[in-house]
Amino acid sequence: MKNFIFQNTTKLVFGKGQISKLSSLIPLDKKIMVTFGGGSVKKNGVYDQVKEALKNHNYIEFWGIEPNPAVETLRKAIDEGKQKGIDFLLAVGGGSVLDGTKLIAAGIVYEGDAWDIVLEGQAKNSIPFASVMTLPATGSEMNSGAVISRKETHEKYAFYNRYPEFSILDPEVTYSLPAKQIANGLADIYVHVIEQYMTTTGQSRVMDRWAEGLLLTVLEIAPKIKENQHDYDLMADFMLTATMALNNFISMGVTQDWVTHMIGHELTALHGIDHGQSLAIVLGGTLRVLKEQKHGKLLQYAERIFNITAGSDDEKIDLAIAKTEELFRSIGLATRLSELNIGENTITAIKERFNKAGVAYGENGNVTGSVAEQILFSCK
Ligand code: NZQ
Ligand code: ZN
Repeated sequence: MKNFIFQNTTKLVFGKGQISKLSSLIPLDKKIMVTFGGGSVKKNGVYDQVKEALKNHNYIEFWGIEPNPAVETLRKAIDEGKQKGIDFLLAVGGGSVLDGTKLIAAGIVYEGDAWDIVLEGQAKNSIPFASVMTLPATGSEMNSGAVISRKETHEKYAFYNRYPEFSILDPEVTYSLPAKQIANGLADIYVHVIEQYMTTTGQSRVMDRWAEGLLLTVLEIAPKIKENQHDYDLMADFMLTATMALNNFISMGVTQDWVTHMIGHELTALHGIDHGQSLAIVLGGTLRVLKEQKHGKLLQYAERIFNITAGSDDEKIDLAIAKTEELFRSIGLATRLSELNIGENTITAIKERFNKAGVAYGENGNVTGSVAEQILFSCK
């Protein structure tokens, strides 16, 4: 196990009716900006609950943070926040609203343009922020990361800020999620775990078992959610699994991959594909192309997750990859670029972007533009 320092400062406030706790979670002397997406919270009662809980607070509202939040939108919130002396932000929505809010929080106390914070990769200063999370997927509610898009240049990059002060997770808010967002969320969770797990064996028993527990949970709940997304305990597990998949708990002292995400972000930047959907396409390619390097862990995955014990090593691994893609297809996601009419031009464009940036991703730092090209060809 490698040396590590672990600290996650977010307070989780979990369960039915917990949105009402906002009244005591945010000090009354704060000047708050509450941020929202496109309006789903007005249809499912979340907005009314937030309004009621904040009735004695001093707050303004900022609407319109879109999926894959764009710096062009966030600059408007930053300007308004600066003008009005905002010193606390509350994101009410999915990962996009919270990620966007993480940039607003840093942008309000930054003199230059907010895109520079994204390019620097780590915010040096920020006002505090918190969330009412309405979509189990990103883990943004309990991590310091955010992924921001720049529409004019079709770019999408991650940066880091501080952690949310608190996040309220009420599983009942997920009852209104469209099937597509549930599928995206399940795929995102699954791939977050894989990015931190699918490297080499023998690094940490406890991290492996923890990650495998989350993978098995996704496999167990995915078909059940399809049957009944109004089952409270089921949706509670969905929400908590999303949080636990990307809050640093399963990455202590182990190497990580993140190749599937880096390629997926390019597909979203170039074609606007939903984040979860992009991962469902790329993951199979990553595992096929990096099969040798991940051989031991793929075998462990085959045996422990899918109970595959018969056949040669290669057969076991191929079957485990097929079963992974089967999970995505069973929840209605595509696993090939052609299903979304994406062709070789895009593959070449991504290769060139990686080459131009001189990047080499993955646990071995060997996924360059040409390896990314092989991965994308493998899921054509
Ligand atoms: O905008 P509104 O009207 O609120 O509707 C949203 C949006 O259209 C809707 N929605 C959210 N909660 C709902 C709901 N509809 C009905 N009922 C509810 N309870 O869902 C749509 C998608 O929302 P979005 O926030 O975009 O989805 P998600 O949470 O999957 O976030 C995706 C973004 O997070 C980034 C992705 O790259 C992408 O930009 N990621 C952030 C990470 C992080 N911060 O750690 C890690 C991830 O790997 C990921 O990259
Ligand atoms: Zn993700």
